[in-house]
Amino acid sequence: MTTKTSDRSFKAALAGAIQSTPPIWLMRQAGRYLREYQLVRTQHANFIEFCFTPESAAEVTLQPIRRFDFDAAIVFADILLLPHVIGATVTFIPGEGPRLRPLTNPATVNALDWSAAAQGLAPVMDTLSRVRAGLPDGKSLIGFAGAPWTVATYMLGGGGGEEGRRSARAWAWAHPEAMRTLMVRLADATADYLIAQIHAGADAVKIFESWAEGLSPTAFDAWVIEPTKRIVQRIRDAGLTTPIIGFPKGAPEVAVHRFVNETKVTALALDMAMANKDFARSLPDGLPVQGGLDPAVLVAGGRQLVDEIDRLLDSFASHPYVFNLGHGIWPQTPIAHVEQLVRHVRERQSR
Ligand code: CP3
Repeated sequence: MTTKTSDRSFKAALAGAIQSTPPIWLMRQAGRYLREYQLVRTQHANFIEFCFTPESAAEVTLQPIRRFDFDAAIVFADILLLPHVIGATVTFIPGEGPRLRPLTNPATVNALDWSAAAQGLAPVMDTLSRVRAGLPDGKSLIGFAGAPWTVATYMLGGGGGEEGRRSARAWAWAHPEAMRTLMVRLADATADYLIAQIHAGADAVKIFESWAEGLSPTAFDAWVIEPTKRIVQRIRDAGLTTPIIGFPKGAPEVAVHRFVNETKVTALALDMAMANKDFARSLPDGLPVQGGLDPAVLVAGGRQLVDEIDRLLDSFASHPYVFNLGHGIWPQTPIAHVEQLVRHVRERQSR
């Protein structure tokens, strides 16, 4: 059953309430478009060390809440911290993105230090507790992790980019047994990580499947649906009812339907292409949805931004909805446009 209230509550939206003013947060809301973020960033030698310094990570998590009064904070961390602590050794090259020690030999899947994950990721739990303590009443806290396939694309490809993803896909098809093991181990480590984040204070968790595009149905089932389903099941088996948001970015709409039905995620995060009225109608009644705004239109601002916000809010008016982008905010985004977005979403109901 859905109810209609006027609150901009993130928790209520994920619990199925249709609200006249939806809650707002933005993917990658802590980041380079904020000068206060850049100030903290320069105090750290590298990005991983920054993520593992709870005092700094908690500070940048709270910055966008203070500046824009968003309704939810997302813990400052990265999907590549997990592979890093089990031995994939991630480095971030400025202007190029992440580099990892590529996993090429199928035998090395079991040689990774899986038991090191919990202790290695402990600083993220410290960050969550600090944020929880500093977050005003009524604001929600989101934990997250990368989905197994997306994390594996970086581990197998040695980095991001088209080339890395092609070699990851080739490896996965060529070594089905090792791939199955890798998916299961990543799913279990990811579930443990998300469970720890919930115990540390996360009100909801999001699973980023940023590379769900371009997979055959067989691969989508084996590498996206099965591991995600396993994560959701393990969180539920731990006795937790915490909402879980799935983000199968770039997946075709038929695959997204299967993803929603089979993984049992609580809510669906939309990319830009999914954010359309026909798709909204095709989704299960009452399914909470989030996101969809093109980060590029937020850079443009003006009439285009207002029109796209209106189109999204109209398209998803009959679903519990959380306002967000369809992908991460761009570093060149003007602060004034983010302010315009928040103002417009919140003032719209009174028109
Ligand atoms: O949203 C937030 O504010 C919370 C923090 C967060 C970061 N990364 C911090 C970050 C979250 C939720 C992520 C998720 C993430 N990381 C994803 C999934 C979402 C997506 O974008 O599809 C992926 C694929 C990564 C891996 C990653 N981390 C890449 C490819 C890069 C380099 C490219 C880039 O955007 O700079 C990062 C670095 C990164 N992660 C930065 C931040 C703020 C930039 C680092 C800097 O400050 O220089």
